[in-house]
Amino acid sequence: MKKIIIIGATSGIGRELARRYAERGDLVGVTGRRNDLLYTLRLEFPNHIVTECFDATAPDATTHLESLVKKLGGLDLLIYNAGWGELTETLDYTIDKDTVDINVNAFLEAIHFGWRYFSTQGHGHLATTSSVAANRGNRHSPAYSASKAFQSTYFEGLRIKARHLNIPLYVTDIQPGFVDTDMAKGPRFWVSSPQKAARQIARALDHHRWRVYVTRRWWLIAKIFKWIPDWIYHRLG
Ligand SMILES: NC(=O)c1ccc[n+]([C@@H]2O[C@H](COP(=O)([O-])OP(=O)(O)OC[C@H]3O[C@@H](n4cnc5c(N)ncnc54)[C@H](OP(=O)(O)O)[C@@H]3O)[C@@H](O)[C@H]2O)c1
Repeated sequence: MKKIIIIGATSGIGRELARRYAERGDLVGVTGRRNDLLYTLRLEFPNHIVTECFDATAPDATTHLESLVKKLGGLDLLIYNAGWGELTETLDYTIDKDTVDINVNAFLEAIHFGWRYFSTQGHGHLATTSSVAANRGNRHSPAYSASKAFQSTYFEGLRIKARHLNIPLYVTDIQPGFVDTDMAKGPRFWVSSPQKAARQIARALDHHRWRVYVTRRWWLIAKIFKWIPDWIYHRLG
């Protein structure tokens, strides 16, 4: 039985991932700001779900994570899944700042907590739900794609760092395309259900994959994003 924390599991991908782990008998610590949704998840799996309600951007976020690890009695896998973004055609500062607060600053605090914990323990697994949007800037939501690029690039650095530690500390960068949740904005294609996304994410984490595209066909879009010349991409965007 693995001990797992999913930060941002009240809805969407995180909630389905928590369900999947609980169903197979793992012990899952779930977080988010909406306590009623944490409560109903716990009711579904009273022996496999523990909850901690907090805002990941608040100054006491690490204290909440410590409390959750105590409730779980240890930790094997920490998934930073909380995230937010909004279309901002007029470049709204508040939207950009809120995006960076949750997708960069709170991410950094949680990942540092996990890294300290796992490197002291001598093993563990860190994962983040980034996005295929990490691969290129976009005018509809510049802070969102930049914040996800931060996560993915940071995780590449951590992966190399972890190899140098010579301990089983795994790192996984999850890059979803469109998943049918409140988060998916604007025109969409190749939309996956949150259940399918959770299934593919859990499988990749079981195999300690370092990067996973969800669904798998989004690998192609990520590669096109990376290699399409600027002069074409900037005209299409
Ligand atoms: N859906 C897509 O198409 C898509 C594509 C690529 C990447 N992603 C990424 O996938 C992740 C999950 O998103 P989703 O699609 O499942 O959307 P979602 O249903 O809106 O889930 C977002 C989760 O993040 C939590 N969260 C947001 N702000 C928070 C805060 N300040 N403190 C604590 N928790 C916070 C939410 O919990 P509370 O509101 O209860 O706090 C919720 O559990 C996100 O990181 C998103 O960027 C999604």
